[in-house]
Amino acid sequence: MPPTIKLALTYDDVLITPKRSTFTSRKEANTKTRLTKKLSLGIPIVSANMDMVTGETMAVTLARLGGIGIIHRFMTIEENANVIKRVKRAQNLIISDPYTIEPTATVMEVKIRTAELGVGGLLVANKDRKLLGVISSRDLLFATSDAQTVAEIMTPYDKLVVAKKGVTFVEAKRILAEKKIEKLPIVNNEGVIEGLVTMADIKNLGQYPLANVNSDGKLIVGGSVGVHGDYIERAQELVKAGVDVLVVDIAHGHSDLMVKAIEKLRGVCPGVELIVGNIATADAARELCEIGVDGLKVGVGPGATCITRLVTGCGVPQLTAVMNSAEIAKKYNVPVIADGGIQKSGDIVKAIGVGADSVMIGALFAGTAESPGRIVTRGDKKFKVYRGSASFDVSEKRKNLGLEKKDLSEVVPEGVESVVPFKGSVTDIIGQLVGGLRSGMSYTNSHTVDELKQNCEFIQITNAGQRESGPHDIGSL
Ligand code: XMP
Repeated sequence: MPPTIKLALTYDDVLITPKRSTFTSRKEANTKTRLTKKLSLGIPIVSANMDMVTGETMAVTLARLGGIGIIHRFMTIEENANVIKRVKRAQNLIISDPYTIEPTATVMEVKIRTAELGVGGLLVANKDRKLLGVISSRDLLFATSDAQTVAEIMTPYDKLVVAKKGVTFVEAKRILAEKKIEKLPIVNNEGVIEGLVTMADIKNLGQYPLANVNSDGKLIVGGSVGVHGDYIERAQELVKAGVDVLVVDIAHGHSDLMVKAIEKLRGVCPGVELIVGNIATADAARELCEIGVDGLKVGVGPGATCITRLVTGCGVPQLTAVMNSAEIAKKYNVPVIADGGIQKSGDIVKAIGVGADSVMIGALFAGTAESPGRIVTRGDKKFKVYRGSASFDVSEKRKNLGLEKKDLSEVVPEGVESVVPFKGSVTDIIGQLVGGLRSGMSYTNSHTVDELKQNCEFIQITNAGQRESGPHDIGSL
């Protein structure tokens, strides 16, 4: 008997039929959704854990806009944990462990440390963290030499406004406004530093009302681990650094390796939210949900840099993969991320329409000002590198960092390296994507993401229909 061959579709193969709508504005669409069993998102957008997509700046920007960034793992564990810590410090209500510097440090050391940490000033303290003063960028302006010590130019303790331990955020905010100061250190009865409230954090609260934060006002961020080598230690360090969710991410997530990794991770990091992947079938979704995961990442081969399907002959067109996985995941109340192949906002509407809760994006966010990596200029055009996590370049980077034991001659890449045009800020791209999603919700009369999941009636289209869907029969500029 020859094998039965089923039809599988992807985003461009289908359209959603418009429905009678009660919307008067697309602003009526509520884009709130679930990332995992416990974590929610203000917008259903996750940036990919790829080395040219998500580092600190991307993760901070995404979380401020209501999404989440998953920090890539192609760096040392120490660096990885530091990136998570920096995202966690980017925004606060009360900073519980403010950076400090000793009074004997030089002006030059202050300049280096503030630049490294990305802060405007530091609390000055002795070894027991007793507060001695504050050194701010304003104090630095009056330094006459880089060799001067902090003690010589800081604003000393007796000239500072400080608050006592136990002060509420609202009260601290009032003091900052009343005294017209930028930093309010919090100390205990012995004068030891207990926290800090800054005007910069208060400004952020107003500027990013949709920010995806936890109860202490810190931005939500994800980390990623594999299933080999240092993954247990990496997971533990990321959890210590404050990561909110771990993505256990390998090319073929429906495997013994993944099952064992989940069991081990559950043992050493109990309580952390675990998203696992990548998968592309109902069977995989069932097995991983049965083990008890908090989110599933679906997509084998749809990504812009992926060549898995070419190299292995395996994969599932993304719409079918998401639909089949999500149907099972729903029974277990496990949210699904549709990962890879999102090229336009309509694809997000379709992914959610077949059951996804959010989408993960790589290529669209690569080449933005917030993605890691340098801008390369060719002629009058600017580009940034974008490469698959299973590309030769990334294997080489892993090898150089000591993260990969395999000989490079054994590498069979399932991803490619490329460049993408420099696109400016990711904020503008997200604005367009979310605007398109909201419009799609209005076309289907879906006021919430859950309604969108239920309301979509799909039709399969032909090549002629696809051609008709894009701009056609007009000149190009
Ligand atoms: P987009 O299309 O948004 O997809 O760029 C991002 C997703 O692509 C996956 N990815 C890979 N898949 N080989 C693959 O087969 C690779 O080298 C590779 N690198 C990334 C990943 O799921 C990512 O989120």
